Amino acid sequence: MKELKVKTRFVCTKCGVSSPKWQGQCSHCGQWNCLIEEVLTKAPSFSHSNKRKVKPQEPALLNQQEYQSKTRNHTGMTELDRALGGGLVSGSYILLGGAPGIGKSTLLLQMAEGLAQQGLKVFYVSAEESLQQTSLRAKRLNLKDKHNIFILNETSLESIFHHVEKIKPNVLIVDSIQTVQLSELSSTSGTISQVRECAGQLMSFAKSTETTVFVIGHITKDGQLAGPRLLEHMVDTVLSFDGDPHYHFRLLRALKNRFGAVNEIGVFQMSSQGLKEVSNPSEFFLEERKETLVGSVVFTAMEGSRPLLCEIQALSLRSYLSIPRRTSIGLDINRLHMITAVLDRYLNTGLSQCDIFLNMVGGLKITEPAADMAIAKALISAKKQKPIDELSCFFGEIGLTGEIRACTFSEERIREAQKLGFKKIYLPVGNKKHLNIKKIAEKVQLQWIKSIKDLDTD
Ligand code: TYD
Ligand code: MG
Repeated sequence: MKELKVKTRFVCTKCGVSSPKWQGQCSHCGQWNCLIEEVLTKAPSFSHSNKRKVKPQEPALLNQQEYQSKTRNHTGMTELDRALGGGLVSGSYILLGGAPGIGKSTLLLQMAEGLAQQGLKVFYVSAEESLQQTSLRAKRLNLKDKHNIFILNETSLESIFHHVEKIKPNVLIVDSIQTVQLSELSSTSGTISQVRECAGQLMSFAKSTETTVFVIGHITKDGQLAGPRLLEHMVDTVLSFDGDPHYHFRLLRALKNRFGAVNEIGVFQMSSQGLKEVSNPSEFFLEERKETLVGSVVFTAMEGSRPLLCEIQALSLRSYLSIPRRTSIGLDINRLHMITAVLDRYLNTGLSQCDIFLNMVGGLKITEPAADMAIAKALISAKKQKPIDELSCFFGEIGLTGEIRACTFSEERIREAQKLGFKKIYLPVGNKKHLNIKKIAEKVQLQWIKSIKDLDTD
């Protein structure tokens, strides 16, 4: 077969003008360091597409188009299935992002075993770790299935495709996209042009062969996934794996999913034998909660469609500084400023002269405005040194006029609190009309809160 000559050009990412060679500054828009290399003509690295003739598709009417549901495979990990929207769709292209050392390789290796046990062929390509390192990890994880998992240490995408053709796996895992490269591009691995081209080739491979492809992407210092979000557009699903390195728990979150809902989460715990699933995260986060405490409140949070009970702690002390100190761990500092101001204005709490410390227990990060009421209650309790009943929990958003605003998913939040034995739930009065009160009120006491003033009554 006649080899096609590889031609590349450099395109400005700001204005789109192309030039035949690299320049530090774009000659058209004058921006610096914005030229990336692009392949113009190339021989495809995998030959599946050569063999298969592409048939032009005929347009169809939307209501006549029969939807063929794709098969979903269970990964052997319920928490991972949940984040994927109910299992792994064959032929999907999935990006798993996360900070280095958080456990991405461990998660996918454990998943490989779950898939292999169902008879699926998994090809795990590690461009970062040697074969010994990967097999040592497999030993540590106590992986039993050794017949359907193939491992390879390779950085060249051309030779990865070469092996793929021989093995014909059902699932291909590439660890990581920043370390694989195409030799036809002159730039080094990890650069924007390499990442884009490699990801593009893997995408057409996934779509044309119905192979599920997982790519691992490292998060850059400023929190971006594998460069300036360029991968996120190409893939079907973006999973982000994060957690506080000082704690054992890890959250797997779907940020984008063409086959399911976003913001679904899976909870794991890192142990000496790899990742363990946490099927009841609320119990996990409230494990160390003592009995009745001053300044400690239980908040019923929502992560995706999953309710999660967690503890918010507050401490207030008289300040000796001209500008009192405000510290918040795991909660938005601006909301703390706002809630403090509202409490001072409507309840005369005197918190503006106090140093305030707020902590989300367990290293969780909550951005939901529904946490406002729990924060306010914790602050009132800390300031007045009044303990809060240990079997009560809170949710509701606070407005600037001191009103409590309705929140979404109130029924799910109440059910989760009931499940864990909470007896009294403080919630916005605005939620009354969305709830089937008769069904719920038998088991728990619902305390309807209209304004912030109602919080300071008991
Ligand atoms: P790893 O999967 O290599 O992270 P990533 O691929 O995201 O960089 O996991 C790295 C960390 O996990 C490492 O610090 C050690 C820890 N670990 C355990 O605590 N237990 C285990 O069984 C394994 C395999 C790893
Ligand atoms: Mg790794």
